[in-house]
Amino acid sequence: MAFPAGFGWGVATSAYQVEGGWDADGKGPCVWDTFTHQGGERVFKNQTGDVACGSYTLWEEDLKCIKQLGLTHYHFSLSWSRLLPDGTTGFINQKGIDYYNKIIDDLLFNGVTPIVTLYHFDLPQALEDQGGWLSEEIIESFDKYAQFCFSTFGDRVRQWITINEPNIFALLAYELGVFPPGVPHLGTGGYQAAHNLIKAHARSWHSYDSLFRKEQKGVVSFSLFSPWVEPADPDSVTDQEAAQRAIAFCLDFFAKPLFIDGDYPEVVKSQVASMSKKQGYPSSRLPEFTEEEKRMIKGTADFFAVQYYTTRLVKYKENKTGELGALQDVEIEILPDPSWQSIDWVCVVPWGIRKLLKYIMDTYNNPVIYITENGFPQGDPVSLDDTQRWEYFRQTFQELFKAIHVDKVNLKLYCIWALLDNFEWTQGYSHRFGLFHVDFEDPARPRTPYTSAKEYAKIIQNNGLEE
Ligand code: NOJ
Repeated sequence: MAFPAGFGWGVATSAYQVEGGWDADGKGPCVWDTFTHQGGERVFKNQTGDVACGSYTLWEEDLKCIKQLGLTHYHFSLSWSRLLPDGTTGFINQKGIDYYNKIIDDLLFNGVTPIVTLYHFDLPQALEDQGGWLSEEIIESFDKYAQFCFSTFGDRVRQWITINEPNIFALLAYELGVFPPGVPHLGTGGYQAAHNLIKAHARSWHSYDSLFRKEQKGVVSFSLFSPWVEPADPDSVTDQEAAQRAIAFCLDFFAKPLFIDGDYPEVVKSQVASMSKKQGYPSSRLPEFTEEEKRMIKGTADFFAVQYYTTRLVKYKENKTGELGALQDVEIEILPDPSWQSIDWVCVVPWGIRKLLKYIMDTYNNPVIYITENGFPQGDPVSLDDTQRWEYFRQTFQELFKAIHVDKVNLKLYCIWALLDNFEWTQGYSHRFGLFHVDFEDPARPRTPYTSAKEYAKIIQNNGLEE
């Protein structure tokens, strides 16, 4: 099962989840530093990312892992507050620049292409104090930060993701308040944050396009978390509509503005309007883009970056909101499928990825697609011999092979989440997504390959599966 020549094989990490060094060398605090230091059992066992995998000082060890896998791509994120401690370009932390320069240069020296995410959930606390993503001012701040990164690293980085999973982030941080800043704004916060996230992305895409693209010749997009969704009862029209609504609220909500016409899907607009009316709001809780904003947003993605983990069965459920990484008002309920293996929130359904890719191809005009994350967690007890988990990956590659060769999906790159076991947000270190085991009890944070790491290296070397 050979993949196309030049297919990209990568792994991903993100700054807060692996770096540690939370206040080292002039780094400013980010919202996750504040949140985890406040305690209160909002994170598993009140764990923090203060040290995490120690990648801030142990980059050389990460590089060894990357070389051992023989990767073509490494997808990582920059810590905004390591580069700009108070979030603005008023003070630039040279030590932060040096750290990322070393990573980028070492990768290129070893023939590994960097894919860089500018923002992966870790807002500088100083900007959160001014309203964070609920405030429109964030658009300007993000654009300045993005321009700073393009001009500092863009001579070597060609593939940029502006914002990681704005859909999950808007929901968890500003709607439900389970991520920092930890304050729920039910019914309104998610939409408001999402609106600003989309505009911030679009602004920074234009900055790249007008100021940097000619010289740097790179590509810019944002990455979306998306499950695949099936109707619980395939013969029920309401369940079929529920499944479509789930995809609309989760994926299309963000993708349609960028890829099609600068505006939210009709089903989202009408659903939010009718739910708002039912609840006695004078108008829809979903903000509207002006015509000028729609023109600004449309066309601001150079590729489609998707992060797939799970497939779910859904059915219609009146007034049930905020499910499945979809923003509010979706009116669905998730049902368990007893025949699917589930590991915490991840249902292992490798064929879901093929259906999702086909959906993206058909709905968004056959874009170039990158899978910028895909993975399976191991809970306790973990085993270095994770043969079972590898079997899920193997089945996933079979589905990708069919997606490329049978469905003709324009898939160019695939990344496993994650290179290392790491800080899994509110689940702390209890969920291990790594290809390399990290011993979090040992100050040296030794990295040891799981069976999956050795198997992935073979896939990369053969550019495909044996069978
Ligand atoms: C997606 C997020 O981008 C990442 O931060 C997280 O660790 C993985 N999913 C696994 O949940």
